Amino acid sequence: MDVRAGIILLFCLMGFTCADTVKFIDCGSSTGKVVTVDINPCPNQPCELQKGQSYSVNVTFNSDVSSQTSTALVHGIIAGVPIPFPIPIEDGCKSGIQCPIQQQQKYNYVNLLPVKSEYPSIKLVVEWELRDDDKKDLFCIRFPVKIVS
Ligand SMILES: *[C@@H]1O[C@H](CO)[C@@H](O)[C@H](O)[C@H]1NC(C)=O
Repeated sequence: MDVRAGIILLFCLMGFTCADTVKFIDCGSSTGKVVTVDINPCPNQPCELQKGQSYSVNVTFNSDVSSQTSTALVHGIIAGVPIPFPIPIEDGCKSGIQCPIQQQQKYNYVNLLPVKSEYPSIKLVVEWELRDDDKKDLFCIRFPVKIVS
């Protein structure tokens, strides 16, 4: 481990903010390309989501198109069935992206994933899409999570 990684790890262990890059599956990003997905906090994968907590999701992607708008859509896939997962802000242009989106630009989409206390303690796959003006996916990612109490 190099010194920088050591310092970052130390900060994380001390409870400071640190984002963790997670493994994801691309589920059909057609008008963009995902670079990285960071979830904070997520020290171990699959991410353990504590009920009553909120997690920040930071998707770094490149856009292949220009778009005035961007709309996020989140689903929880439980036993193969996608169930809509409400997020507080659906407007991608209010989630770290400066709109209009320009072609060949890199963006950071940053939003919160609130985990309600009434959710069951299960493992599921989160599917997160960001749609452009034509309802095509600037990105579509899937990552597994585990809801814990
Ligand atoms: C999102 O992730 C990118 C790349 O890792 C980073 O440069 C950026 O600062 C992050 N943004 C936030 C708000 O965490």
